[in-house]
Amino acid sequence: MLKVRNLTKSFGANTAVDNVDFAVDRPAMIGIIGASGAGKSTLLRMLNRMTDATSGQIEFEGREVLKLSGARKRAWQSDCAMIFQQFNLVPRMDVVSNVLHGTLNARSSLATMFNLYPNADIHRAIDILDRLGIADHAAKRAESLSGGQQQRVAIARALMQDPRIILADEPIASLDPMNAQIVMDALRRIHDEDGRMVIANLHTLDTARKYCDRVIGMRMGRVVFDGTPAQLTTGVARDIYGAGASFSEAATSTALESPESAAAKALHEAEAAV
Ligand SMILES: Nc1ncnc2c1ncn2[C@@H]1O[C@H](COP(=O)(O)OP(=O)(O)O)[C@@H](O)[C@H]1O
Ligand SMILES: [Mg+2]
Repeated sequence: MLKVRNLTKSFGANTAVDNVDFAVDRPAMIGIIGASGAGKSTLLRMLNRMTDATSGQIEFEGREVLKLSGARKRAWQSDCAMIFQQFNLVPRMDVVSNVLHGTLNARSSLATMFNLYPNADIHRAIDILDRLGIADHAAKRAESLSGGQQQRVAIARALMQDPRIILADEPIASLDPMNAQIVMDALRRIHDEDGRMVIANLHTLDTARKYCDRVIGMRMGRVVFDGTPAQLTTGVARDIYGAGASFSEAATSTALESPESAAAKALHEAEAAV
């Protein structure tokens, strides 16, 4: 259903995503792992057209994603909802209104201006919040919720779009272990019950192994591993993270920066300074 071919993104001389190829033939739950700077976020952002690719192709059920524009591009962006590490909610707005924002693409600008939501949408928003166990907080300001609750609001907002794919960029990197588990359980359940594809950048190996059917490992913009959690041995993981002998199973992408990406970052900073 999803085919990614020779997908490349360059920022100046730096190739963030380098000829990435993979195909998904059923709505799987896929984890993407790799050190900080490996290109995981850039890959997700290209998938939902937040960032334009430099070259390559993305095909979803016959749609040439990279060629879509205007209304068709917006329809695609509704079909693949994005969830972020920092939740990206409107902090002072109540939870239900944050969730209803997930229908913005489908509403007229006038209705949006006056904050008019159809009753059916409001009921649906509450049902989705209920499914995620946070309906009790519907009337509270988003900022008054815990991180784990806020991420579930972000998932609810994504579900409001009725997406085919949920793209999650390090959805649990800012959460404590208990909330991380609640959020990952929610994503897995949505995948299992609704048959939605989930592609999540994950910063710990354990999470990728536990929740995903398939894991893609990236290093320096390239796919260096694509297999099942069982195939993701410690040795393979060490290669993905490029961490040498210092590698431990507790490795995370936020803690482990590959030497290459550290060098690239230093270069960016040097360029930005002049
Ligand atoms: N907007 C940008 N401008 C310039 N370089 C960028 C930009 N976004 C990402 N990069 C660079 O692309 C590479 C991959 O970044 P990213 O996709 O954020 O990796 P990851 O999510 O795996 O940490 C890094 O070298 C990063 O510095
Ligand atoms: Mg990232």
